[in-house]
Amino acid sequence: MNKNIAVIRGDGIGPEIVEQALCVLDRVAELYGHTFTYTDVDMGGCAIDKWGDPLPEEMLQKCLASDSVLLGAVGGNKWNSVPGHLRPEKGLLRLRAGMGVYSNNRPAKIWPQLASASPLKSDIVEKGIDFIIVRELIGGIYFGEHKTETKDAQQVATDILTYSEKEIERIGRIGFETAQKRSGRLCSVEKSNVLDSSRLWKAVMHRLAEEYPDVELTDMLVDNCAMQIVKNPAQFDVIVTENMFGDILSDEASIITGSIGMIPSSSLGSSSCGLYEPIHGSAPDIAGTDAANPIGTILSAAMMLRFSFDMSAEAECIENAVSALLDKGYRTADIMPSDPAEAEKCKKIGCKECGSLITSLLKKA
Ligand code: IPM
Ligand code: MG
Repeated sequence: MNKNIAVIRGDGIGPEIVEQALCVLDRVAELYGHTFTYTDVDMGGCAIDKWGDPLPEEMLQKCLASDSVLLGAVGGNKWNSVPGHLRPEKGLLRLRAGMGVYSNNRPAKIWPQLASASPLKSDIVEKGIDFIIVRELIGGIYFGEHKTETKDAQQVATDILTYSEKEIERIGRIGFETAQKRSGRLCSVEKSNVLDSSRLWKAVMHRLAEEYPDVELTDMLVDNCAMQIVKNPAQFDVIVTENMFGDILSDEASIITGSIGMIPSSSLGSSSCGLYEPIHGSAPDIAGTDAANPIGTILSAAMMLRFSFDMSAEAECIENAVSALLDKGYRTADIMPSDPAEAEKCKKIGCKECGSLITSLLKKA
């Protein structure tokens, strides 16, 4: 198959991790007889520097014209003082909205080889960590009106949080359908004891539940959910939640699996053209030092093959290679065991070596 992939390297460690994911994709193409062509897209801080805009219209159009988009990460201290509407992150929010990718899927699954890297006690980890956060991605407070005014001689800042029934319903359906494909348990997370938007969220979820009698729906307040994720993560299978709660909970869910550097994500809307990105940021502190973990991006490329290109065998081939790498004891800095005796059994590698080892471990099933 021929596929045109829009590639956004972005800022900080973005270019380094994307480079490794492209090596992996090239080898997969070779093994399975596909042709992947890449179209470079500028977004984030580098686009601000080059074009004065974190996502020029022409760049968005390149993404919309592609079969799918692979992204590293955007942002960095350098752009912290630019006005809010020009920040690198605004480019990413505009890209997600422009592509209409309302459904963000973030798996939190512990790799058995990394169980000791989890900050949780081993008796909690042993019960298993394997759940998915379905995050609404293009609504809520990140997309409401933002303003800062001067009132009574002081600055007053406002961010508006809005959800319509339609927006809740379409992400709710993804939550139910995801649960149907797994264990049939769906936990809807909100703050209905305080927020109107959450009360509407809860009502819509329960209305939808009638259409999915094979799914068991439970509700959980977001503050309790944050606690339950560290206390008893094994209780979760699929969590569906709004944009900001999903942003926060998915970082928490990632770290209990060992490292945020390992977690990929897929974002889809009504077409097969999706956006695939690791859930971590641009880590400017380690940019250029070859210390980044490219696995989150490499696994995002695997998700792209599975969900946008219908290439499950190819996706599995990448996931197996990552597993084989971990089996052999190779670890990037973020997943090196802290216990010296454990660390002794592992070999610390950099970003490039990690990418080339995974590439060399790719085997057609
Ligand atoms: C994420 C990030 C983004 C978000 C930022 C960079 C805008 O934190 O993908 O989780 O908040 O969605
Ligand atoms: Mg985040």
